[in-house]
Amino acid sequence: MLPNSHEFFRHFWYPVMPSDMLKKDSPQTFTLLDEPLVLWRHEGQTIVLRDRCCHRSAKLSCGTVQNNTIRCPYHGWVFDAQGHCIAIPQESQFKPSAAHQVPAYQSQERYGYIWVTLAEPIRHIPDFTEEQEASFRRIPCFYERWQTSAFRSMENELDMAHFSFVHTTTFGAEANPIPLALNLTDIDPWTFHLHAKLATLAPEAQAKNTGMPQGESSRTMNITWFMPFIVRLDITYDSGLQHVIINCSTPITGDQIQVVQFHYRSDSETDVSAQELIDFESKIIAEDRNILEILDPNVDLYTFQLEAHMATDRPGLMMRKKLAKAIQQYEAKKV
Ligand code: FES
Ligand SMILES: [Fe+2]
Repeated sequence: MLPNSHEFFRHFWYPVMPSDMLKKDSPQTFTLLDEPLVLWRHEGQTIVLRDRCCHRSAKLSCGTVQNNTIRCPYHGWVFDAQGHCIAIPQESQFKPSAAHQVPAYQSQERYGYIWVTLAEPIRHIPDFTEEQEASFRRIPCFYERWQTSAFRSMENELDMAHFSFVHTTTFGAEANPIPLALNLTDIDPWTFHLHAKLATLAPEAQAKNTGMPQGESSRTMNITWFMPFIVRLDITYDSGLQHVIINCSTPITGDQIQVVQFHYRSDSETDVSAQELIDFESKIIAEDRNILEILDPNVDLYTFQLEAHMATDRPGLMMRKKLAKAIQQYEAKKV
């Protein structure tokens, strides 16, 4: 079993789909941590149930939403928003029992996405204060399914050594593989901070969308990791532009993730259009995806001995240590 199939991970919030994908009374599906979900919206509320009828396992998402209930497509059982079966058409005297229900899950809408947790959450959704600041705009950038684990994706976000080899067609400077600065600050059991400076190359498209000169340059990054699978990347360019990238790796299964990425920028649509930004950033994340999909999704969270390491791996190893410790403490509390 991959460690990210551990039930510990059910106790966190994950963005599962953009809010505008969820239309009124029209069921949508998402698989979160191997749990098939059906979601629908009713009078501003989002309802999330297990997408598996408790009778003979039919997908409720193939049924019909009516008056905030969902009717199973197989034998017509009707479930309310809490997952209770409230009607069986074949039994006029039906009295529900505890077995006649499917699990219901908590949801919230934040930052333009539906967030779901599968168990009592240990942490709240991180606060991104730019959301309330008039000087920032939010740009929803990517909602993509990748064949990798959330661990590998997060470690890649924290890996300051891959740019020169992976981002060769965008901003990586092949001649300068050594980070100019790399400082790690532990914040609390669920968070740490990484400050890094890298030698980079600004291609024409990036020079245009950041106000930087084209060619040799540097990139200062302040990165915050939020347990388990969210990274916030703050980039300040010499032009003064502030650019925040929120990267969430929502685990679908142990070896598949939904990449949910949105940005905040301190410029305006007339300075740089959202589409121009997405066009450039899509080349960068395609480079990441190509490498991540050839890695083994399994990560050695506990011994660190199954892979060799180097100095720039420290942020990723700090993430592994924090996760391993939190899982151990979670296990200890259950006993
Ligand atoms: S499988 Fe759903 S009602 Fe029978
Ligand atoms: Fe990358």
